[in-house]
Amino acid sequence: MRNFNFYNPTRILFGEGQIASLAQHIPAGSRVLVTHGGGSIFQNGVWEQVEQALSSYPVSRFGGIEANPQYTTLLRAVAQAKADESSFILAVGGGSVIDGSKFIAAACAYSGEPFDLLCGTRAEQALPLGCVLTLAATGSESNGNGVVSHAERQQKLPFFSPLLFPRFAILDPRTTFSLPPRQIGNGVVDAFVHTLEQYLTYPSDAPLQDRYAEGLLLTLIEEGPKALANPEDYNVRANLMWCATQALNGLLGCGVPQDWATHLIGHELTALYHLDHAQTLAVILPALLAERRDAKHAKLLQYAERVWGLRKGSPDECVDAAIHATEAFFQRMGVATRLSAHGLDAEAIPEVLAQLQRHGMLALGEHRDIDLATSERILLRAL
Ligand code: NZQ
Ligand code: ZN
Repeated sequence: MRNFNFYNPTRILFGEGQIASLAQHIPAGSRVLVTHGGGSIFQNGVWEQVEQALSSYPVSRFGGIEANPQYTTLLRAVAQAKADESSFILAVGGGSVIDGSKFIAAACAYSGEPFDLLCGTRAEQALPLGCVLTLAATGSESNGNGVVSHAERQQKLPFFSPLLFPRFAILDPRTTFSLPPRQIGNGVVDAFVHTLEQYLTYPSDAPLQDRYAEGLLLTLIEEGPKALANPEDYNVRANLMWCATQALNGLLGCGVPQDWATHLIGHELTALYHLDHAQTLAVILPALLAERRDAKHAKLLQYAERVWGLRKGSPDECVDAAIHATEAFFQRMGVATRLSAHGLDAEAIPEVLAQLQRHGMLALGEHRDIDLATSERILLRAL
């Protein structure tokens, strides 16, 4: 096992009715800026609960943070937070609202050009941030990562700072009852791929991390389709929400090699062609596993056996069947696994490769050996 440094200060407040406890976790006297997306929180009762719980604070609101939060939108939020002298940010929504709010929290406390924070300058100060999660997917509620999109540059820009872990995350599974099927599928696929990016690499003598990952994968496979079939099953939503948080709260990746090539190639598909984040993952991951089957052979076999119960046939047949099962699972969650399903053909590939080159994505994967030629083969397999 490799050395690691695990830090996760986010308090998780899990379960029905937890929004009512908000005031216990925001310092008295704070001026709270509530950030949200396009309006789902007004339709599913979440805003009413937040407003009531914050009745003793001065509150202002910034709405309209888009899926794949846009830099220019977030700058407007920063201006509002400064004008309102906000001292606490409360993000209410999915990964996009939380990521965007992390950027707002950092930019409010940064004296230089905010764009620096997306180009490698790590935030050294930030407003405190908490969140009410309404979409189980990204793990943003309990990590220090964010991704901001810049439309003009056609780029998704990741950032990280240990100061950007939310102070607390309220996870009330009921808030996810109103998700449309597309976002249920996206959420399960995103959590599944986060787990695989940290598991399906090469053996590193970390049996606990392996079994932890396999537990998450098996639970997602079991519970995911139930959420589509019975959207108001509280326990199903609770299990999915807890899986998604743990898939990217840092614990799973301790001491093990990590891949992340699927995410980094996928980011370019979102930046260029506006696919949802998880739609890109469902397209790239099966193709990447097929292309990298030799480098990942030992873990693919373990995945086939322990997650999909595939023991019959030759090792190659088991690996084929595991990749096929993965793809079929994504499809069962309603997420397409081919570029063609999104109207993209081979003509799209050179532009994706040009973006990868422009952004320095020339040595991806756990061995840092996915070069442009390999990315091209992956994209061709994904057509
Ligand atoms: O904007 P509103 O009206 O709220 O609607 C949203 C949005 O349209 C809707 N939604 C959210 N909760 C809902 C709901 N609709 C009905 N009922 C609810 N309870 O869902 C739509 C998508 O929301 P979004 O926040 O974009 O989805 P997600 O949570 O999948 O976040 C995706 C973003 O997170 C980034 C992605 O790159 C992308 O920008 N990621 C962040 C990560 C991190 N911080 O660690 C890791 C991930 O790999 C990912 O990159
Ligand atoms: Zn993701």
